[in-house]
Amino acid sequence: MVKVGVITVSDKGSRGEREDQGGPLIMDIVSELGWETEVSVIIPDEQPLIENKLIEYADEVKVDVIFTTGGTGFAPRDVTPEATLAVVDRLAPGIAEAMRMESMKITPKAMLSRAVAGIRGKTLIINLPGSPKGVKECLEFILPGLSHGIDVLQGNTGDCAEKKE
Ligand code: MTE
Repeated sequence: MVKVGVITVSDKGSRGEREDQGGPLIMDIVSELGWETEVSVIIPDEQPLIENKLIEYADEVKVDVIFTTGGTGFAPRDVTPEATLAVVDRLAPGIAEAMRMESMKITPKAMLSRAVAGIRGKTLIINLPGSPKGVKECLEFILPGLSHGIDVLQGNTGDCAEKKE
């Protein structure tokens, strides 16, 4: 079973001034795959706080995947990608590329997402947009390919070349 961590990055959400819709939506969608959200939190757009939470979920809770939602745009306080880049060992650019490529077919504003994805230890970290609409769309694009990546990262499966699709 895949263990998930969800981090909602939102100044207003963290102050209780805006209902967090993105975080619960992620949990709902992944639960349909049988994945379990072990930890979740709402934190403000502060890079050190985001980095600390990513490190805690990856190194201590040891979740398989962390989804962040919010803070990937152009607003001065949007720093989720910078926090993610600061803590990952390796990039997984294809995931963010796929999200933007498919999202561009829905809205030209998709190019404004600076989302990144990468790997820290055995944990995959993926930035999602803040809006529930963006969360739902992006998860639909990437979830079909993720299980295999998580399996490979965990060492549960070997050579892709030996497999037929
Ligand atoms: N991607 C999809 N699929 N659907 C969307 O509605 N919204 C975009 C983009 N990506 C969107 C999307 C918008 S309007 C912005 S500003 C960026 O994500 C960044 O969003 P964030 O700052 O809330 O993370």
